Amino acid sequence: MDWTIWLIGGVVVAAAGLFAYWQLIIAEGAYLGAPLVALLYDWTAERYDSIKEFNRDDEDFCLGLPLEVRLSGAPASTIIDVAAGTGRVAQVMLRRPNFAGRVIGVDRSFKMLAVAQREAACFGNRAAFIQADAMALPFAGGSAPVVTCLEALEFLPNPERGLAELARVLAPADEKSGAMGWLLTTRRIGWEAKLMPGKTWSRAQMEQLLQNLLFTQIQIQVWQDIYDLVWAKKQRRRS
Ligand SMILES: C[S@@+](CC[C@H](N)C(=O)[O-])C[C@H]1O[C@@H](n2cnc3c(N)ncnc32)[C@H](O)[C@@H]1O
Repeated sequence: MDWTIWLIGGVVVAAAGLFAYWQLIIAEGAYLGAPLVALLYDWTAERYDSIKEFNRDDEDFCLGLPLEVRLSGAPASTIIDVAAGTGRVAQVMLRRPNFAGRVIGVDRSFKMLAVAQREAACFGNRAAFIQADAMALPFAGGSAPVVTCLEALEFLPNPERGLAELARVLAPADEKSGAMGWLLTTRRIGWEAKLMPGKTWSRAQMEQLLQNLLFTQIQIQVWQDIYDLVWAKKQRRRS
């Protein structure tokens, strides 16, 4: 009798452990609400960059150079970097020789932003950081010349609405005003993506979502083991 109780107890504890691992480590709190996601990032903020082991050459080659080239027609554009974390996009872009614009980073985690602010202090007022939620960005519709959102959509309460919110603030490409209309974001892939149902998309699903939001020139590129890089250009709605 005793051993059956131990066995059942063991199974219950193991199941609870696996559930907690799934929810807190793999999904990073994504199913439990935005405040918890931000709290988990607050706890890891000071260690985030060393956990990620960013490589400056890779960052330049995969992010900085291609973005700089796409913005060559409007090198003074302001980039709105949503879910900016520790300021990865600011670090990459503000070192580019042919980018003369600014980066405004938005994140819900105060401590991630504190690291971003500290690390970007050398760029003066070309980098600014705002605490806000990606689901309700504090920008008017069509006001952002360029929008980036890396490695974050799957952690939002509703990734599809989050993507629509990125599209809302992004100004469509327009020759007259010089707006470039570029969105740079990511698509979660790999085995962990399969453990995040409702938070991740197949390639075809993401293309369709972007087309529905009036994006063209959609390019989904292999980038890392767990992310594809996604480029897309927003067009003006025809009246
Ligand atoms: C994996 S990190 C990516 C950070 C950065 N983009 C990068 O590539 O290094 C995910 C970021 O999303 C932020 N985040 C998660 N949910 C958010 C939300 N609802 N609103 C704003 N930021 C959010 C987290 O605080 C965290 O900084």
